[in-house]
Amino acid sequence: MNSSSIFRDGLLAGQVALVTGGGSGIGFGIAEQLAGLGAHVVLASRSVERVEAAAERIVAVGGKASGVSVDVRDADRVREVVTDIAGSHGRLDILVNNAAGNFYVPSEQMSANAWRSVIEIDLNGTFFCSQAVMPVMRQQGGGRIINISMTLHYRGWPMMAHATAAKAGIDALTRTLAVEWASSRIRVNAIAPGPIPTEGVRKAFAAPLGGVDASGLAEAMTEHAERTIPLGRWGTPADIGQMVVYLASPGGDWITGSILVVDGGEWLSRPTVASMP
Ligand code: COA
Ligand code: NAP
Repeated sequence: MNSSSIFRDGLLAGQVALVTGGGSGIGFGIAEQLAGLGAHVVLASRSVERVEAAAERIVAVGGKASGVSVDVRDADRVREVVTDIAGSHGRLDILVNNAAGNFYVPSEQMSANAWRSVIEIDLNGTFFCSQAVMPVMRQQGGGRIINISMTLHYRGWPMMAHATAAKAGIDALTRTLAVEWASSRIRVNAIAPGPIPTEGVRKAFAAPLGGVDASGLAEAMTEHAERTIPLGRWGTPADIGQMVVYLASPGGDWITGSILVVDGGEWLSRPTVASMP
């Protein structure tokens, strides 16, 4: 597969990666980068059509990829998928915990199920996938787990109580598992992306905010991002994919328990959503 990557051709040849939520947005960008450097990438999400179509796009340009259906909230199914990958490929080197759900809703109106859904997808899903790959990685002498976090919980982000709590939990999990699993040579790190316009973000904005008038919020956010991101642009899935590759490469050998912000300086200069029109 031809790669326009900054990394050397074939850097990840022979390696196997599992990317949850790899059929869209940032997850697909990560999968493209990993496959471009020779890894076989398994894309996993609820919609088998979505992941199979995404895998076909990678295969069409010469990469190695496949799609598998999994709801990361289902620990048994997650274990089954990991066992299948280890059985058919003989190894599993890289896990990217990217799957997530999100929507804006005022905290006092958030149903128990809405809270549970996001916590279960983001936080429980990250734990279930990490726990499932651990014995495979330990047995083969090591591996890389890379969690996709966010920055909104660094200061607080109204109407995102579920997602910010889940991602703060993911940050804690990253540090704990990094220390606990270092002796098995499993490096556990996280990447905190800044704003990247994906279908998922548009969907999160499009939903009605439980009685709050959301009209204009997406436009306000867009304008805010363009005006205030110090490096002057939105992020792209490739920005995150390149950091994933770095952490998965030998360059990441001595990095574990780190949470790397990739956001053009956005969170440092950010007012809260509450101060926007
Ligand atoms: N406002 C308030 N509550 C909402 C909501 C919204 N915009 N969207 C969903 N919910 C609630 C539902 O009403 C339901 O609660 P209830 O049973 O009390 O009514 C609960 O959340 C679960 O909804 P459901 O549609 O069954 O969720 P799911 O578990 O199938 O899907 C989601 C997960 C809800 C997180 C969905 O947003 C999703 O699939 N997102 C993926 C894409 C995405 O969010 N990407 C952004 C990544 S940053
Ligand atoms: P996205 O395109 O909506 O990606 C979410 C992916 O997760 C989808 O492919 C979805 O596929 C999958 N998914 C959702 N629920 C799942 C479940 N229960 N089991 C398995 N897979 C599930 O959104 P994105 O913007 O690329 O976000 C990717 C990651 O980046 C998320 O962790 C997000 O929090 C993080 N992030 C994004 C931004 C941003 O600005 N875009 C900023 C900071 C952090 P299915 O629907 O097929 O399941």
